[in-house]
Formats: sequence, structure tokens, C-alpha cells
Amino acid sequence: MSEPTFPIASLTVPVIAIDGPSASGKGTVAQLVAEKLGFHYLDSGALYRIVALATQQKNIAWDDALAVTECAKKLTIRFNNDQVYLQEGDVLKDISDEIRTEAMGKGASQVAVHASLRAALLDLQHSFRQAPGLVADGRDMGTVVFPNAQLKIFLTASTEVRATRRYQQLLAKNQPANFDNILLDLQERDARDKSRASAPLVMANDAILLETDNLGISEAVDIVLQNYQRKICK
Ligand code: CDP
Repeated sequence: MSEPTFPIASLTVPVIAIDGPSASGKGTVAQLVAEKLGFHYLDSGALYRIVALATQQKNIAWDDALAVTECAKKLTIRFNNDQVYLQEGDVLKDISDEIRTEAMGKGASQVAVHASLRAALLDLQHSFRQAPGLVADGRDMGTVVFPNAQLKIFLTASTEVRATRRYQQLLAKNQPANFDNILLDLQERDARDKSRASAPLVMANDAILLETDNLGISEAVDIVLQNYQRKICK
């Protein structure tokens, strides 16, 4: 894995951990919360997507834990706002669009089952904990990566609502979209994320549950911000 982009993380820097299943809206909510607070943002799912892409390009099978982990350790990953880059020699390759496909989402959830890979990605994720604060989104932010986060949110919605959101996102990006396939894929991914032995998708004991079936993005953002204010004013 590449050298951390940021210097050594400090445990006193506040973290807001936002976990939840695919297409629950956590990425959008987390980014907006980070923007409002002027905090850094970690999209941990992007890391698993990058590994899925890099291993596919090297013809490494996603179920080969050892080869996937070794490949990941050699990657030099760079983030710049929304853009994601892989350094290959002197060349910085923009892979932002390539990692956002449904195929890479599926691949990410397959490589993400490997405990060795998850361990290899820990230091890089911790390195995002920089002043004035971090909003981290994923599946295990509040349970494994930042267990001492100041605020933990578990953002979820029904499978149908999430499938509809993902369907509309793909249409908006002019990407091929089939509602039934998306629904099936979400169900498969949820099952894999929840049942894996290493860092499964579970709500942390001290997390706040946010059901977003009937909640707009800005309302969800406001609730997270209010809860954060409450926590830091204690
Ligand atoms: O966009 P979507 O929520 O579908 O996925 P993502 O957040 O980009 O993550 C892609 C996949 O990576 C997920 O389906 C998870 O299996 C895995 N992942 C994980 O295991 N742990 C994380 N902290 C983040 C993502």
C-alpha cells in the first residue's frame, strides 16, 4: 500500500463515522456533512473498488485473498477531492469513473471479505484522521476502523428505496440500468457484507440509527449535524 497521503493520525481529532448498506445515501450525506464542518472526507468503499479494479487489470481472481492483498499493498493511491488516482511509475492515472461502475461495486464487495486485505488498508484509513476532523463513510467505520469516533451514524433504507435510488443515479449518469438486476445485486451485496467473518456490516452499539426511506438528503445532513453539536457540547 502507498505511503499515507497525510501525516500520522491523532486520536484527539474528531471523527464522524457513517456506516450503512449500499445506496443508503451515506456517501452523499457524509460528503455534505464534511463540507459543512470543513472536515476531511474518507470514502472507504472507494479503496475496495480500487483494489477490485487493480486486481482485475492484473488478472488476479477476487477470491484469491493472498494475491489480492499483495497487489493492494503495492498500490499507490492518491485522492484529490472527488477524484481518485493510481500512480503507475511516473504516471498518475485518473480512475474515478472506472471504479464507480456496478461491476466494480460487485468486485469491491468480493475483495472486501478478505481479512488480510482489510488489515492492509487500516493504516491508510487511519491516516485520513486529520485536523480539524474527519467524516468517514463505509461499513465498518464505527465498529473497526474508528471505534472511538465521537459520533457514529448507521444510515439505512429499505432495499426497494435503495434500489430505486441506485437506478436513478445510473440513469442520471447515462449508464445502463435495469431495476430488477439492481435490486438483486443489492440483496446479494447486503448478504455478503452482513455475513462475512471480517468486519461485517453491523450497527455499532453506540451508533444512532437513521432510517432514510422518508428522509431527504438535507434533512439527514441536518440530523447528523445536530447530533454532532449535541455530542461536542456535552
Ligand atoms: O456505493 P456503495 O455503497 O454500493 O458501495 P461502496 O461504499 O463504494 O463500497 C463498495 C463495497 O466495498 C461494499 O459493497 C462493501 O462490500 C465494501 N466495503 C467494505 O467492506 N467496507 C467499507 N468500509 C466500505 C466498503
